[in-house]
Amino acid sequence: VRICVPFFLITIPTLLLTVSSLAWTDDPPIGEQPVIQRHLDHRAILDGSVSVQEAVEAGRLLFAADFNRLDGAGRPQTDGTGAPRLRREGVEAFNRVSGPDANACSGCHNKPRTGGGGDNVANVFVLAQRFGFVDDFTQADPMTGEIPGTLSTVGNERNTPGMWGAGAIEMLAREMTADLHAIRSRALALARQNRRKTTLPLQTKGVHFGSISAYPDATVDTSAVEGVDPDLIIKPFHQKGVVVSLRQFTNTAFNHHHGIQSVERFGRDTDPDQDGVRNELTEGDITTATLFQASLAFPGQVIPRHPKRALAVHRGEQLFEKIGCAHCHRPVLELKSRYYTEPNPYNPPGNLRPQDDAGTIRLDLTRDGEHPRPRLTSRGTILVRAYTDLKRHDLGDDPRINNERLVQAGVPTRVFLTKRLWGGASEPPFLHNGRATLLTDAIDAHGGEAANARRAFWSLSEYERACVIEFLKSLQVLPPNTRQLVIRE
Ligand code: HEC
Ligand code: HEC
Repeated sequence: VRICVPFFLITIPTLLLTVSSLAWTDDPPIGEQPVIQRHLDHRAILDGSVSVQEAVEAGRLLFAADFNRLDGAGRPQTDGTGAPRLRREGVEAFNRVSGPDANACSGCHNKPRTGGGGDNVANVFVLAQRFGFVDDFTQADPMTGEIPGTLSTVGNERNTPGMWGAGAIEMLAREMTADLHAIRSRALALARQNRRKTTLPLQTKGVHFGSISAYPDATVDTSAVEGVDPDLIIKPFHQKGVVVSLRQFTNTAFNHHHGIQSVERFGRDTDPDQDGVRNELTEGDITTATLFQASLAFPGQVIPRHPKRALAVHRGEQLFEKIGCAHCHRPVLELKSRYYTEPNPYNPPGNLRPQDDAGTIRLDLTRDGEHPRPRLTSRGTILVRAYTDLKRHDLGDDPRINNERLVQAGVPTRVFLTKRLWGGASEPPFLHNGRATLLTDAIDAHGGEAANARRAFWSLSEYERACVIEFLKSLQVLPPNTRQLVIRE
C-alpha cells in the first residue's frame, strides 16, 4: 500500500492527460519558438486559398510581432543597407541609432494604436543605418569617408508617422503618376508630330507639378518639373517623399529596424547577415504586412459638443482655406479606384512587382478595410480628405524645419512632402522631427513656399487663430469600429 498509493497519485493524472491528448491530431513544438510560426505564400493569397481578410490579419500579427533570434531578428554581419560589417551580436545585437533599434513595428507605430504614429522616444535616426554600429563618432562615414563628430551628422532624427488610410494614399500617388506619365507621352507625341519643342503643364488631381518639354528627337527636358523627381513618379512615403510603396518601405524597415531579411529583397536560401536563419520573410509575408497597412482605418473628424467649440471648428475650416493652408494641405483628393492593388507597378527592383509573375491582389477599400472606411461617391470614386497634395515643397530656413545635416535621396534639406493632416491631432508631437509640441509652433515654423500662409495665420485675430487650431484638433484617428467619418464628440 505504501508503495502503490503514490504510484497511483502520479499515474492517474498522467493517464488522463495521455487519453485526452488522443483527441489532438497535431504535434505542436514546445519550448523556445520563433514568433512567426506560419509563413504565407503570396500565391495562396493570389488564388484565394488565403482570403484577403486572413492576409490582413496575418499582416497585423507580423506588424505587432516581437521578433526573436529564431525568427532571424538581428543582423550580426550586415548593416541596415545590407552591406557587410564586423560581426556584432549578444549585447551588441541592438543599437538605438544605427539599428536594429526595435523589437516590433508596433513598438514605434502605436499612437493611438497599432499602425499609427509614435512618441519622440520612437524617433528614428534616418540614414544612420549605413554605419555598422554607431558607438564612436570618430568612426569614418561609409558614405563620405569623413568623421561625423556628432549625432546630427550621423542620422536625421525623424518622428514616426501613422499609416492611417495609407492604402488610399498609395493609390492616389499611382493614379497621379499615371496622369503625369500620360502628359509626358502626349508631349513627346506632339513634338514628333509637329517637329518642334512642345511644353505641357504637369497637372493631376488639381495639383501642379510644373511643366515638361519634349523634343522631336524623343528627349525631354525636366528642368521645370516641380515637387516630384524627374521620373515623374509620385513617392508618397517617407517625410521627404522618396519611397513609392508601402511594400518598398516594409522591405527596408524589416531589415533596418529588426534585422529581418525578406526573400524578395535579399534572395532565397541565402543568409546575408550570417545569423543562421534563411528566408526570414516570404513574399507572402511582405504581402500581408503591406495589406495590413493598406487596410488601416481612414482618419475622420470629431465635432465638439460644446457649441462654442463646434462653431470654432467650422470657422477654422473656412479660415484654413482662406489663408492659403489648403494650397498644399488639399482638403480632398479624389481617388478613381475603390481598389488597393498589390504589388505596385512602380516598385523599384528588390520589391515584388507585377512583372515578377506576382499577379494582382485586390483589396476593396470600401469593404475590406478597417472601420471607419470610405464610402463610394455617386461617381464610384473615393474622397480622400488627407490634407496633402502629395507634392514636395520648400518650407524655408527656420531651424525647426531645416535642421537636417544629411541630404536624403537628393532632396534638399529645406524640402518636405506636404504632411497629411488627417489624424494628425491623435499623433503629437508634430513636424518631421517631432520638435513641435503645439500645433501653433508647427505652423510658425513654416517658411519658404509657405511663408505667405504663415504670415496670414499671424495676421488673423487671436480668436481666428484659435479657430484654425480648433479645426486641426478635430482631425483625429477615430475609435476602432466607428462607422462614420464625421462624428460628434
Ligand atoms: C524605431 C521606430 C520604428 C520602427 C520599429 C518602425 N518604424 Fe516605420 N517609421 C518610423 C519613422 C520615424 C518613420 C518616418 C521616417 C521618415 O519619414 O523619414 C517611419 C515611416 C514608416 C513608413 C512610411 C510612412 C509615411 O507616411 O511616410 C512606413 C510604411 C513604415 N514606417 C512601416 C514600418 C514597418 C512595416 C515597420 C516594421 C517592419 C516599421 N515601420 C518599424 C519609425 C519606426
Ligand atoms: C507650401 C506648402 C504648405 C503650406 C502653404 C502650408 N503647409 Fe503645413 N506643412 C507643409 C509641409 C511640407 C509640412 C511638413 C513639415 C515638417 O514636417 O517639417 C507641413 C506640416 C504642417 C503641420 C505639422 C503636422 C504634423 O503632424 O506634424 C501642421 C499642423 C501644418 N503644416 C499646418 C499648416 C497650416 C495651418 C497652414 C496654413 C497657415 C499650412 N500648414 C500651410 C506644407 C505646407
